[in-house]
Amino acid sequence: MSEFDFSKRDSFGSKFGAIAAAAGSAIGLGNIWRFPYLMGENGGAAFLFIYLGFIFAIGIPVMLSEFVIGRSTQRNPYGAFKILAPKKHWYLVGLMGVVAAFMILAFYTVVSGWTLEYIYQSIINGFSGKQTTELGQMFDSFKASTFRPILWFVIFMAMTTYIVISGVKNGIEKYTKILMPLLAAILIVLCIRTITLPGASEGLKFIFKPDFSKVTTYTFLQALGQVFFSLSIGMGTLITYGSYMNKKDNLANTAVSVSLADTFVAVLAAIAIFPAVFAFGIEPSEGPGLVFKTLPNIFQQMPGGYFFAILFFVLLSVAALTSTISVLEVIVAYFSEELKMTRKRATIIASASVSILGLATVMSWGSLANVKIFNKNIFDILDFTSANVLLPVGGLLIVGFIGWFHGYKMTKDELSNNSELKARYIPLYMFIIKFIAPIAIALVFLNGIGLLKF
Ligand code: PFF
Repeated sequence: MSEFDFSKRDSFGSKFGAIAAAAGSAIGLGNIWRFPYLMGENGGAAFLFIYLGFIFAIGIPVMLSEFVIGRSTQRNPYGAFKILAPKKHWYLVGLMGVVAAFMILAFYTVVSGWTLEYIYQSIINGFSGKQTTELGQMFDSFKASTFRPILWFVIFMAMTTYIVISGVKNGIEKYTKILMPLLAAILIVLCIRTITLPGASEGLKFIFKPDFSKVTTYTFLQALGQVFFSLSIGMGTLITYGSYMNKKDNLANTAVSVSLADTFVAVLAAIAIFPAVFAFGIEPSEGPGLVFKTLPNIFQQMPGGYFFAILFFVLLSVAALTSTISVLEVIVAYFSEELKMTRKRATIIASASVSILGLATVMSWGSLANVKIFNKNIFDILDFTSANVLLPVGGLLIVGFIGWFHGYKMTKDELSNNSELKARYIPLYMFIIKFIAPIAIALVFLNGIGLLKF
């Protein structure tokens, strides 16, 4: 094994490429599958408003802090903290990110695999003639089976591996630059279809008119967890992507563009889903089954549904793929730079080891359904621990590091590209990451896991 040659380190080739890649990481199943069902369970617009507040108060500042750490060091998260805080233990934050990457990739790729099954079912017209209960059973029995979910999981993992092996510029950037515009186009077509359905206005009301009676303190934890999950922050994914960004890029612009694009897509996904849910008289609070049980039912009833079903599940899998590559890249950057492996070897070893955990996760409803902690199966444990525990804790440590340890001048130099940019927002940003973001994260988190009761 040879030393990693940092002078030949890969990077993004253009500003658009960097934004497409980071937005690709952020926009994913979190926006199209998770956000709508959380909204459905937590009072629609009420959830949206809390979510928006967290995006601005916490999400964007954390993202920017990750970019600062990554770009100033041009290293993987572990290596970045080693450079910025030698002889201290901050590198553990980087390691925690690698662990979170393993967990997220394992369950995320399982759902990504389901999207491939649903593309296939849409093409062969597999939903046709089935009633609500049959469609529910179809999903439940597919999920609990062994062969097909594993097959789709392996295929999805292989696609992810292929792109990551190809490199940062020739893999990640190249594919996200094609896939993100495709995703936007599909989403817009779907939104036009649903808002022109008769009875769609009820759905729009649900999205934009808040019902605060459904809001509990748990709603706040869910919204915070969703901000972290959706923006891909708190585990070093954006430290890694930041490390591939050009020294001339305006980091604040990039962070705001990516966060707004991500939020916009989540709202558009809700617009593509809820008007149809209401138009066909279905309960919005269906939970994780929303897109796999409810939507096929709706597609069957709507004019042009055959075609729109295929489009929708292609949209989901495209969104998922540009996210799985970013999670895998965290592990690969660590393996290749710190454990001195070639990119190819690092990627194969990372994918193979994630797949072992992933296979156990696939069986969460099948042969391993009885493996439970706190009444959660393997899948739910990975989902809950990563989104609601590891990412917020990681985010807290990241803003804590920049706010209290890294030093104002170093942060300012990085954000202003050594005074080339005015960056007037810096005092506000510093205030947020020193006080607002850490206090908000700590309160919501401790309250959500029950250690602190208001
Ligand atoms: N942001 C992705 C989504 O919303 O689907 C999920 C994700 C990707 C989380 C990358 C964390 C991550 F590092």
